[in-house]
Amino acid sequence: MDARSRLIVALDVPDAATAIASAERLAGSVGMFKVGLQLFVAEGPSVVRSLRERFPDVDIFLDLKLHDIPNTMRGAIGAARRLGCRFITVHAGSGVQHLRACVEEAGDALGILAVTVLTSQDAQACAEAGHTRSPAELVELRARCAAEAGCAGIVCSGQELERVQAVAPDLFKVVPGIRPAGSAVGDQKRVMTPAMAIAQGATHLVVGRPIMKADDPAAAASAIVNEIASA
Ligand code: C5P
Repeated sequence: MDARSRLIVALDVPDAATAIASAERLAGSVGMFKVGLQLFVAEGPSVVRSLRERFPDVDIFLDLKLHDIPNTMRGAIGAARRLGCRFITVHAGSGVQHLRACVEEAGDALGILAVTVLTSQDAQACAEAGHTRSPAELVELRARCAAEAGCAGIVCSGQELERVQAVAPDLFKVVPGIRPAGSAVGDQKRVMTPAMAIAQGATHLVVGRPIMKADDPAAAASAIVNEIASA
């Protein structure tokens, strides 16, 4: 995998026009566009179709973090498959049977990424949610479920990479909460630099604000690609 194809940029913008304008600036510098809740709720599947048509060489990662009963999940996953997305996220917290239903429905072209524990959650947030395990223990447990269900990959923070490598060695490790040295952390809690995340086994990095809010987003993306390449 080359360095550019490992970089996923989060198009966390309010509407399709802004997303297309950002995508035009970034298409040559990144491997994948991530369409998340804000953009998808505002614009629906048409924004995915527009991105697919205009930028056929850049894959789409539909980050909807689905969490429902298996029958409903199957319906949504089938719709994402027909849209031509490369990856879609589902929450890993409902166990192997739910994840397996998603994997079956996705087929070969669409990869199911299981979100282990959000990178914005720390130990206190996990305790408040009723978990008695630490975030790292939960991530490991859920990575194990994802591997057993046949998921394409997991989403975790850089800080759990070594741990998940042991239980899910063959899965993609997609890592948000990436912050180049000196950039603002914002609401993220379990953060890591691009070089460190790659060195510890990330296969893909998800970067939003450090690129999208930069004065020159394409230059910020290229700097991260260079950091990936040298790591
Ligand atoms: O702006 P920032 O780089 O923090 O954006 C990270 C992106 O990754 C956001 O779109 C967020 O929804 C997503 N994400 C995350 N943590 C996860 C899964 C996805 O931050 N566990």
